Amino acid sequence: MVGEFADRFSQQLSTRPVLVKSILTFVLLSLVSFLGSKIRLHYRLRHLPLINGKGLFRSAQKAKQIFRVNARDLLKDGFTKPHKSATAFRVETDDLQVVILSPESVNEIRNDSRFSFTDLIAEVGQLSGGPDIHPNFNPHEGLNDMAKDVLQKRLTPSLGLVTEDISEEATLAFKDHWTDNTEWHALDAKATLVEIIARLSSRVFLGHELCRNSAWLRITIDYTMTVFRGIMALKRWPSFLRSVVWRFVPEVRNVNEQIDEAVRLITPIIKKKGAKGNSSSPETTKPARLDVIQWASEVANGRRYDPTLLQLGFSMASMHNTTDLATQVLYDLCAHPEYIEPLRKEVKTVLEQEGMTKAGLARLKLMDSFMKESQRIKPSELLGMRRVLLEDVTLSNGVFLPRGVQIGIPTTMTTSPDADDSTSDPAAFDGYRFLKMVGNPQKEKTRHFVSTSPDHLGFGHGKHACPGRFFAAHEVKTILCHVLMKYDFKLVKPDSRPTVLDMGWALIAEPGIQLMVKRREGVDEGLLHN
Ligand code: HEM
Repeated sequence: MVGEFADRFSQQLSTRPVLVKSILTFVLLSLVSFLGSKIRLHYRLRHLPLINGKGLFRSAQKAKQIFRVNARDLLKDGFTKPHKSATAFRVETDDLQVVILSPESVNEIRNDSRFSFTDLIAEVGQLSGGPDIHPNFNPHEGLNDMAKDVLQKRLTPSLGLVTEDISEEATLAFKDHWTDNTEWHALDAKATLVEIIARLSSRVFLGHELCRNSAWLRITIDYTMTVFRGIMALKRWPSFLRSVVWRFVPEVRNVNEQIDEAVRLITPIIKKKGAKGNSSSPETTKPARLDVIQWASEVANGRRYDPTLLQLGFSMASMHNTTDLATQVLYDLCAHPEYIEPLRKEVKTVLEQEGMTKAGLARLKLMDSFMKESQRIKPSELLGMRRVLLEDVTLSNGVFLPRGVQIGIPTTMTTSPDADDSTSDPAAFDGYRFLKMVGNPQKEKTRHFVSTSPDHLGFGHGKHACPGRFFAAHEVKTILCHVLMKYDFKLVKPDSRPTVLDMGWALIAEPGIQLMVKRREGVDEGLLHN
């Protein structure tokens, strides 16, 4: 890759001496400024212990390798080893050092705007290294204020209006991917769930037209990985060179090709619906159409945005996370089949009374508790509340954090919500754990799947807590209603439990696990529709 790049680059340079001079000056200045800021930051962090630094018997590469496969133990060691700090320490990650704060800091930082989420996303997504990497490219288009407004002001309040659409799409998608076959047959749990979730989400994000379009479904499923590969390829270059080399990196070109293809697919739909990217229409309280294209144009209120990039941003923010959660819940059901009948009974009783409605899904309390327990034991990341410091801060416990440093708080150490309850072992899976809190005034507010609290950081906490979690909960509950009512299921290999893949901070439900599935007979499917 580097050879190919060098050839093309040198051909261009040999014909343009002024360009050569400008580029060399730019590279030199960037290098000086890059090294300067890196050294300054390291120096200002030296008061905090480094848990996996290079040493006499450990190379820098080895330190990074330890992070990649065993970040979980690093977090544990940092707070528990007697010679280490109990309040904060540093971890050497793939490309920079991150300061880990203790869970006691959650409330102090959750609404503090000096701890920036936006700048963190910009740093993690180094793909934005070039000013015009794509005519409109912005890797965080799905994570900005526009996206939050669409979710908070339109999608979440409209969940009751899209429940039937989601359930109708679930019926069609399960028919295609899990089939109506009443004999046991094997299928790949995660691979089929991602296809089903792509359909359900696209039905709400884009409407009927594209939610069954195979070209769009491939993009919405693959886009996160394409961007991730682009970022990884770019990160092989020193950061001061990234804004020059990105044009020649094939993985980054793939990102641009996918964006172009998405524009080609989505633009005609936007034109047909009459929604404009730069709408200045005033906000209305009642949405005219029920999809993100329409809602975005309603809440834009004069703000500039690109409707295609917004959709791709939603794909990035939602597809992997929601699929991983649904997969983990399914694995947990296979591991604890004693929950299947009580859950079926709950779904049947509630849907008979409420129908497949928002109110009905909200009354599925055992399901809600089971999902929260799944996320408690395996959140999608080991590190939550990740932020970048916009200025120097000294925390109330005396820890000094310099401007520019990345911080985070472990998610798996904050989750012992009922440690005071001697009947429940915090380390064990207990699907009833949060159901048992119903009626407990101290726990009532935090027991719901969508509640965030310092004890449960799966969706973050504070002003950046995930605004898509209400939709994710709605979608996964709908999926579980369909799975429980319509299918019998079990692991192909019941004795080998799926594992969790630790990849740096990410905790991933194992892909490629085969389930045995068969359609149940004599089920009243009418319960799943109104
Ligand atoms: C199970 C599924 C999901 C999980 C586990 C999840 C998790 C998270 C987490 C941990 C954060 C960062 C919170 C923080 O640092 O305080 C976040 C932010 C965000 N999520 Fe989600 N998410 C999920 C689904 C979704 C969906 C379906 C959408 C959109 C439809 C979405 C949109 C967003 C947005 C826009 C933000 C940025 C919020 C901000 O800038 O303040 N998420 N999510």
